[in-house]
Amino acid sequence: MDDELTALRRSRMRWNTPLSEPHAELLLDRMALGEGHLVDLGCGWGELLLRAAARAPGLRATGVDVDVTGLGRGRTAAGERGLAVEFTESDAATWDVPAERAFCIGAAHIFGSTTAALEALARVVLPSGRLLYGDGFWAVPPNATALDIFGPDLLTLPDLLDAANDAGWRVLHVSTAGQLEWDDFESTSRAGWEGWLAAHPADPRAGEVRDWLDRRLREYVRDYRGVLGFTYLVLGR
Ligand SMILES: C[S@@+](CC[C@H](N)C(=O)[O-])C[C@H]1O[C@@H](n2cnc3c(N)ncnc32)[C@H](O)[C@@H]1O
Repeated sequence: MDDELTALRRSRMRWNTPLSEPHAELLLDRMALGEGHLVDLGCGWGELLLRAAARAPGLRATGVDVDVTGLGRGRTAAGERGLAVEFTESDAATWDVPAERAFCIGAAHIFGSTTAALEALARVVLPSGRLLYGDGFWAVPPNATALDIFGPDLLTLPDLLDAANDAGWRVLHVSTAGQLEWDDFESTSRAGWEGWLAAHPADPRAGEVRDWLDRRLREYVRDYRGVLGFTYLVLGR
């Protein structure tokens, strides 16, 4: 897809994770943000990072991602809100600057797996610090298609909590995305292109866009709605 459609695809999403506004506020509360450095590894356009920076003006906030479209959106939003959030194009897997606070949401794949992410992040967050970790898990045993889409590395929620403990973390908070958060996430992930398609039905790219939208909705409803869960953990030591 070209740059125009790439930028448009996620344009209707608040953030790239199933998360309501009240749930986001709760997570930021539990992170006990203050001064020091907050790094968001795999930040996308960093909406939650921006909210954190707005809440805690003493915080130095850095978002790290490889997606220049997302980083550009984050920089624009930071400028519009007068926030000194830094958006850095870098491979988060090699990020080694210790920080008091970190976010890693929906980005475990950067490190290879949930277990590898929890271990690597323990080296990034200072011993007195906190990590907001968001990851998928199997809410029920997966069907073959869900397994094919999301791969063999996802854990159940109890196994994910065990993996966090094994990596040296204490679980300070656990919550999961509700069905409405999931449905809204999936709907908004399609809304940018649905809007474009309605306005450009005869465009040469319309067929490809329609196929992608139909496949995504079909897979969600048939294969992973209620099967794939998503959890938010606040972890400390
Ligand atoms: C599901 S998105 C989550 C984005 C964001 N955390 C949020 O909640 O809105 C995963 C992000 O990981 C980023 N990513 C993938 N590989 C990466 C890497 N090696 N280094 C940094 N970011 C990476 C993607 O570009 C994408 O923005």
